[in-house]
Amino acid sequence: MKAVILAGGSGTRLYPVTLAINKHLLPIFNKPMIYYPLSIAMLLGLREILLIVNPEDKAAFSKLLKDGSHLGINIQYKIQEKPNGLAEGLILAEDFIGRDSIFYMLGDNILYGHNIVQLLNEAKKEIEDKGGAYIFGYYVKDPQRFGIIEFDNNGNVLSLEEKPQKPKSNYAAIGMYFFDNKAIEFAKMTKPSPRGELEITSVNDMYLKEGKLKVKLLGRGFAWFDAGTHDSFLEAGEFVATIEKKTGLMIGCLEEIAYRNGWISEEKLEELAYPLRKTSYGKYLLDLIK
Ligand code: G1P
Repeated sequence: MKAVILAGGSGTRLYPVTLAINKHLLPIFNKPMIYYPLSIAMLLGLREILLIVNPEDKAAFSKLLKDGSHLGINIQYKIQEKPNGLAEGLILAEDFIGRDSIFYMLGDNILYGHNIVQLLNEAKKEIEDKGGAYIFGYYVKDPQRFGIIEFDNNGNVLSLEEKPQKPKSNYAAIGMYFFDNKAIEFAKMTKPSPRGELEITSVNDMYLKEGKLKVKLLGRGFAWFDAGTHDSFLEAGEFVATIEKKTGLMIGCLEEIAYRNGWISEEKLEELAYPLRKTSYGKYLLDLIK
């Protein structure tokens, strides 16, 4: 399985903050937003990662993450010329993915919860072994903002709708998906939605119609943020700050994950921490070595 993270888009819902800076480079508390989805890919053991970025932001992303080798991973970049939608990301990733299966995540999604890695690994394994697609539902108060999943009484998915005016449920599909390779073909079959984008919901709907869509609901023990609006951006930052200060453990700390995964040595971790030593982030990394 390969990981694709979509970090393009125009971030209009965060204007004027994002007029000059790409959303995914903004800080969620003490680290850039993009660290959070990237950390999930790394926690899943995925080391081949494609970042889809806007033409004007490629330089900033590569300054931050380089080719990933300092973290023991391989990061490649692909330009999305225009914000044509999430499904286009899959088409742009075709060469990178080859015949592999796909972990697809939106760069502004932040996920935290007990045993989350185990839960995601089960979904990953299922898609790798049996094919199909896996999506995750999360209860929200503002369902008009999201891709919405409708269920029958037995928990079977009846329909999927992108940003419905009259939502059939309060369960949003979060911006994280496991797909078999067919997703690329499906993405190519999608047509622009009323907002002019190739929607990931259309791809998921094709899996649903083939009886190949699996859904797991993330219950109360999980926190999920789509940090794409002023409020959710602030909430995500406050959440991360609260948890990190309470537990003394960081969320989305890439160097830590690389080190704990055995992808980088202690010496390398120290080298990465040194320039950051004046910050609590750097001190946290140095403490891992002690
Ligand atoms: C996208 C998807 C939507 C999903 C949401 C989660 O919305 O289209 O289905 O629920 O991400 O973050 P967008 O961020 O493009 O408005």
